[in-house]
Amino acid sequence: MSALTNQRFVLASRPVGAPTAENFRLEEVAIPTLGNNDVLIENHHLSIDPYMRGRMSDAKSYAEPVAIDGLMVGATVGKVLESNHADYQAGDWVLAYKGWETHSVVDGDTLLKLNPDLAPVSYALGILGMPGFTAYMGLLDIGQPKEGDTLVVAAATGPVGATVAQIGKLKGCRVVAIAGGEEKCQYAREHLSVDACIDHKADNFAEQLADACPQGIDVYFENVGGKVFD
Ligand SMILES: NC(=O)c1ccc[n+]([C@@H]2O[C@H](COP(=O)([O-])OP(=O)(O)OC[C@H]3O[C@@H](n4cnc5c(N)ncnc54)[C@H](OP(=O)(O)O)[C@@H]3O)[C@@H](O)[C@H]2O)c1
Repeated sequence: MSALTNQRFVLASRPVGAPTAENFRLEEVAIPTLGNNDVLIENHHLSIDPYMRGRMSDAKSYAEPVAIDGLMVGATVGKVLESNHADYQAGDWVLAYKGWETHSVVDGDTLLKLNPDLAPVSYALGILGMPGFTAYMGLLDIGQPKEGDTLVVAAATGPVGATVAQIGKLKGCRVVAIAGGEEKCQYAREHLSVDACIDHKADNFAEQLADACPQGIDVYFENVGGKVFD
């Protein structure tokens, strides 16, 4: 047993609607002895992602729900403190899929080693990780935009949407962003260099979208569902 303890958030109850603090419980637990191939990680970054809301629910889904009193799942970037795995040693940076906790003990075979000289390690949870890959594959493999196309991107200031918008600009598209609120739209125009951004909360959203896409829409990158998709 290590002298360190692990602080972790477990799911205390299943949320109805938007989650609240009462749906979670902070616990302090002992760190178990490492087994063969196990690695002890000190987590530095945790990504909070939309899929987590699905894991809090026990409705039928493609993935198992988090159990009540179970550790909330999530991807983390952390530093190896101890290792019983041949490929990892103390000081290595790794990407792990365990959860909302300060310290994780995981089988080293499930880890991805990160090179801090290549990019900030936290990027493995964003542009160089799951959201970035989703944007890259979704837009380039499925959307296949061509120069001059009108590309509309929903939730355009999130990690997936912001990446899609920027790749779209690199590919020579007219990029029309959709985001919730003027502050996000200002960010999209100034930092993502989109051609137009529409606040989906505006009363005349449909009219503004039509005005922003005079030639119609060639590629639509859906991120949310609901009203905007309809
Ligand atoms: N491999 C995969 O299949 C994969 C991987 C990563 C992500 N995804 C999916 O891709 C989408 C984008 O992911 P992301 O991480 O980039 O998300 P995100 O943009 O950080 O978060 C979702 C955004 O959706 C918008 N939104 C619109 N209506 C909403 C509502 N009623 N409730 C909550 N949010 C609402 C919000 O932006 P506004 O305020 O701008 O509307 C919110 O910030 C998500 O659907 C995610 O599940 C799939």
